[in-house]
Amino acid sequence: MLKDSYGRIIKDLRISLTDRCNFRCFYCLPYGEPPLASKEKILTFEEITRVSKIFASLGIEKLRLTGGEPLLRKEVEVLVEKLSSLKTAEKSLKEIAMTTNGYLLKEKAKILKKAGLDRVTISLDTLKPEKFRRITGIDCLEKVLEAIEAAQEAELNPVKINVVVVRGYNDDEIVDLTAFARQRALTIRFIEYMPLDSAKKWDRNLVVPGKEVLQKINEVFPLELKENSRGTETSWKYRFKDSTEGEVGIIAPITDMFCGACSRIRLTADGQIRTCLFSTKEHDLRTLLRSGANDKEIADFIKKVTLQKEPRHYINERNFTPASRSMSLIGG
Ligand code: GTP
Ligand code: 5AD
Ligand code: SF4
Repeated sequence: MLKDSYGRIIKDLRISLTDRCNFRCFYCLPYGEPPLASKEKILTFEEITRVSKIFASLGIEKLRLTGGEPLLRKEVEVLVEKLSSLKTAEKSLKEIAMTTNGYLLKEKAKILKKAGLDRVTISLDTLKPEKFRRITGIDCLEKVLEAIEAAQEAELNPVKINVVVVRGYNDDEIVDLTAFARQRALTIRFIEYMPLDSAKKWDRNLVVPGKEVLQKINEVFPLELKENSRGTETSWKYRFKDSTEGEVGIIAPITDMFCGACSRIRLTADGQIRTCLFSTKEHDLRTLLRSGANDKEIADFIKKVTLQKEPRHYINERNFTPASRSMSLIGG
């Protein structure tokens, strides 16, 4: 079991497959990509599989593949198949999920499902084509809507939608996005904007508190909390009182911090372990991996590093130090 020094059990490994992205979302990567890692530094599928197996042997239950944009990694389904086969070998490992912007998903949805991907989360911040272009830098709302449909057809369920809510950009669409989720029986999660954008333009005034989102939805579509405890998860989950299918999730890291129950650890595309989204320090697994270390040595390194996991983020404090990488290099 992987335990940190505060007694939190680490069950979720989030693996960034590439630092590249084909979108330019203003809340993440507005001015193009920061310097990317050279190709030889990016972990190979074999390396990712080996590390995942070791993590799974330490009790990891969920692997989430992120980016940048994970579908930019060539033949990603080959990796998914390798990771999926770990589910039989390592009993703790139960689920493989992916977070994607959806641009390349329509063509890949069935292939990924067949390779063993359990479910996907797709980013969608607006239902208006022009606004979509303004937020992401790409004019492709239609393509993402088709990807959502394809993901549901491929049964990558529950298909979840991530909405980063930013004041003055898309807070006028909270109800419309919820109506969209109701029509399609989707899980939609509204996320508070965090200071992880590469431009460092984050401003507290742009954060729309989760409570406000909830209130806006409740006025039109009354909601009911599913459970009083969210366990180690990021979101409070709500069902529609009128029993319409679908789910609303509120992820409020700023106004309702969930660090006390955090179960997450991250691996960057270039093989660095990040013990928190807001870490200012990383742990170099790649060098160890490539130095001929055996599985026990790697497991010991992971255990030691986990003990250094930060207690929480400090976004609400005056001397907050931004994370050493922006979101596009961590993957959410
Ligand atoms: P599932 O509910 O299992 O689908 O996973 P999840 O809740 O981790 O969802 P997802 O990976 O899609 O994360 C949703 C968003 O929550 C991310 O894009 C981040 O914005 C935010 N988030 C995820 N993990 C953390 C975390 O550890 N800390 C903070 N502060 N925010 C996080
Ligand atoms: N704040 C909150 N969430 C963010 N994401 C990206 N940038 C931010 C940010 N600054 C989330 C989006 C996307 C996932 C990859 O990361 O939800 O779906
Ligand atoms: Fe965990 Fe860090 Fe996120 Fe808090 S900010 S929930 S400690 S990863």
